[in-house]
Amino acid sequence: MEAILTVNNLKTTFLTGSGAVQAVRGISFQVGKGEIVGIVGESGSGKSVSSMSILRLLPGTARIDRESSIVFDGQELTGLTPKQLRQIRGKRISMIFQDPMSSLNPLIPVGKQVEEMLKIHHKELTREQLRRQVLELFGQVRIPEPEKRLKEFPHQFSGGMRQRVMIAMALANKPDLLIADEPTTALDVTIQDQILKQLRTLQQESGASIIFITHDLGVVAELCQRVLVMYGGLIMEEAPIDDLFENPGHPYTMGLMASIPALNQDKTGRLPSIPGSPPDMTNPPQGCPFAPRCPYARKICAAQCPPYVSLGENRRSMCWLLQPDAPAENNPFRKEAAR
Ligand SMILES: Nc1ncnc2c1ncn2[C@@H]1O[C@H](COP(=O)(O)OP(=O)(O)OP(=O)(O)O)[C@@H](O)[C@H]1O
Ligand code: SF4
Ligand SMILES: [Mg+2]
Repeated sequence: MEAILTVNNLKTTFLTGSGAVQAVRGISFQVGKGEIVGIVGESGSGKSVSSMSILRLLPGTARIDRESSIVFDGQELTGLTPKQLRQIRGKRISMIFQDPMSSLNPLIPVGKQVEEMLKIHHKELTREQLRRQVLELFGQVRIPEPEKRLKEFPHQFSGGMRQRVMIAMALANKPDLLIADEPTTALDVTIQDQILKQLRTLQQESGASIIFITHDLGVVAELCQRVLVMYGGLIMEEAPIDDLFENPGHPYTMGLMASIPALNQDKTGRLPSIPGSPPDMTNPPQGCPFAPRCPYARKICAAQCPPYVSLGENRRSMCWLLQPDAPAENNPFRKEAAR
């Protein structure tokens, strides 16, 4: 796999009045050219901060550790000046967020906003060329009646259509990497499904790589080839999507899987969720971050963070129970031995 992005030991901390929030605590991963990688995890696990760190779209209170490295297409991004980063942002790497309304200007027609995005990086385009490209982009993301709609304002669009405008904007400059942070979470299931299908088609046509962030493992299954499961600012498990579903390699992944609607909704429509709540990142556990909620936790778990164990190609997981000398009792990875 040829990598478009290689993140190494990324640590991002926020300096706040109530202490340092250790949002991302040393994560490493790669994204291949043309690959769709999912980042999944509950609220607060560090998904957004990880992706915002790539383009340094972080508030002034954020610090990226000196030893962290983010290499995009052969170029180290952590040392770039804000001006150099702006050359990359929106052109070679673009982002889509959950709430398109907050990224769109309510006072400017949507077509104009997409044009502006094109203009930043392509000053040479004439007005007519810009208009034609916007129409083409609207067509690509299946916005009906594009001629009419490009003159309309964001409030005249439904949530799903607004998200399509955002995707058009993100694709305008043919990026090599698209980071989509919960782009379908606020949409109803049918629209969500349409947008996911469309992202997949657009990815196939453009060959771009995608990092898709979601708290929903079901969505990851539909779209991604590989997934990183995050918890407490760390990657708990990394796996090709089919392997993960067939054979989850981490108790936290097992917990997430039990809460996928299609698989596990009971008659009342309630979803089982993992009991307990995520750790306080101003004072994260020194051992395995999942220990306070893990049904398999034992003494060592709270004391020391487990090392990664390789479970095959592109597969790793950090859990003490995967160590060769781990006891078989109450060990979900040793079902045979326990019988
Ligand atoms: N600007 C900030 N200042 C201080 N702490 C922050 C800031 N932004 C995020 N955090 C903290 O960093 C941690 C990771 O947050 P992040 O937004 O990455 O979570 P997430 O996985 O994207 O969650 P969600 O699913 O809710 O979007 C959380 O503990 C959060 O409270
Ligand atoms: S290391 Fe321990 S607490 Fe963490 S997931 Fe594995 S068994 Fe559970
Ligand atoms: Mg987030």
